[in-house]
Amino acid sequence: MPNSPNSLPLQPLIDDLAEQGWSQQRAFLPQSLTAELEQECRARAAAGELAPAAIGRAAGQAIVEGIRGDRILWIENGQSAACDRFLDAMETLRLELNRQLFLGLEELECHFAFYAPGAFYLRHFDRFRDDDLRTVTVVFYLNPDWQAEQGGALRMYLDEQRSLDVLPEAGTLACFVSGEFAHEVLPASRDRLSLTGWFRRRSDSLL
Ligand code: OGA
Ligand code: MN
Repeated sequence: MPNSPNSLPLQPLIDDLAEQGWSQQRAFLPQSLTAELEQECRARAAAGELAPAAIGRAAGQAIVEGIRGDRILWIENGQSAACDRFLDAMETLRLELNRQLFLGLEELECHFAFYAPGAFYLRHFDRFRDDDLRTVTVVFYLNPDWQAEQGGALRMYLDEQRSLDVLPEAGTLACFVSGEFAHEVLPASRDRLSLTGWFRRRSDSLL
């Protein structure tokens, strides 16, 4: 059943990650849950709960709209039924990544992100100079009927020659090894909503 965590399309994702370091899975979660998450993100954005996203960590944090123009809200267990179901799915993924790929992922940090039309995030890596514990990035998109001409792709730089554009279509989960791929968010002509997270490993892990 699509609602049971056991039926998540985990294996193709894990195989991709092992082989190439990234994966893109369509319809990763049930459409009804994706729609609930979209509604929650929109409602919280309208209520002013999302704040301009910063770059870097702790003392090194700065808000630089010329680099990154989204607004975010960190999510926690117990925040809403929909977020709890999302976090449950990510927990299932975390355990399976650890079991099959021995990644030693210990926790997920995760936020709603809302890019208004024209907002972007310039090319970057997800690891900070002062924090290299982010190991696997996941981005779950919440935008029904996205068209390529609306922009807003996640552009991943796979190597010197090749890049890959992932459209932020509702239900798509993009996943990649955080330290390996530079990437950027292109500006869009409509709102662009997502849940973005990072599985972090233990600070003493060798991987
Ligand atoms: C990020 C990021 C990608 C996306 O938040 O670090 O790169 O597609 N997001 O939203
Ligand atoms: Mn990123």
